[in-house]
Amino acid sequence: MENFLLKYDVHSIRGELLLPSGAQVDESLIAEFVRNRNDKVSKEYYFAELGSPLADLTRFLAKPPYNAIFSDPAETEEILAIMGQVRLLEPVIDSLDYFREKDFHTYRHSLMVFALSTLLARHLYPNDRTALLGSLAGPSHDLGKSCVHVEILQKKTPLTRPELAMLKHHVFAGYIQLSFYTGDPRHLTAQVARDHHERRDCSGYPRGTGNFTELVEIAILSDIYDALISPRPYRPVSYDNRSALEELTKMAEKGQVGWLALKALVAFNRRNRPDYQECEVSLERRGMPPANNVYGLIAEENDGDSGGTGS
Ligand SMILES: [Fe+2]
Ligand SMILES: [Fe+2]
Repeated sequence: MENFLLKYDVHSIRGELLLPSGAQVDESLIAEFVRNRNDKVSKEYYFAELGSPLADLTRFLAKPPYNAIFSDPAETEEILAIMGQVRLLEPVIDSLDYFREKDFHTYRHSLMVFALSTLLARHLYPNDRTALLGSLAGPSHDLGKSCVHVEILQKKTPLTRPELAMLKHHVFAGYIQLSFYTGDPRHLTAQVARDHHERRDCSGYPRGTGNFTELVEIAILSDIYDALISPRPYRPVSYDNRSALEELTKMAEKGQVGWLALKALVAFNRRNRPDYQECEVSLERRGMPPANNVYGLIAEENDGDSGGTGS
């Protein structure tokens, strides 16, 4: 991995400093940092053991468009069973509590990316172990947002450039946090935290690389889709389902995201549930993106410089 300069502090969910701003991060620093964590191995708990997140998830799944995607009770039960077996590190569980209180959008979004990633992984890689691996990164993909000021996460007007830079810090912050907690910078959760805003055509951030695995791509697609169909502080009205799928289709046409995971997502949204491999994705534009969406606008110039799609 290439080096990067840390622009802001990275701290744990409990506020301990893990790495200060200004640190030049490279493989040897990460290795030393992981070695020096004084064997602070975090405890893990099964998702099924958690109270509020599981109850909340069930409630969120009952609302459109998830009630259509998860319309088959037997399949939903199976997906919930897979999710229930995912073991979450204590700091990730603490982060869910933190977001539930401080930034409900991120809390809900983390759970929905978890559910959708599990469903996609289960169908694209129909082997329990792989599905589990694919899904376990969902709840922590935005963990680094705990290092972003809540006022920025909740800002209703366009971000300034410094605010956008701090928001983008969440990907490296999450990578460092999860490298620390798992003791392994190559752990899927750390990789997904770092790479979930990357795009295949290298137009994403933080590294502008198209070099990531299919499992990371599942998280990328789930992240973009849920961000589009959810109300956000910067966009009171969310994309309708049709427009959200059209946005993703446009991204696939530009080579930013892969067609296979998109086909699966489109198939889940069809009433007759076609086999995703045979699912034709409509290229027709009929959706109506929401008005007053300030996402990607920069405060000083309003020049439309995109901060990227996703969350
Ligand atoms: Fe996200
Ligand atoms: Fe994110």
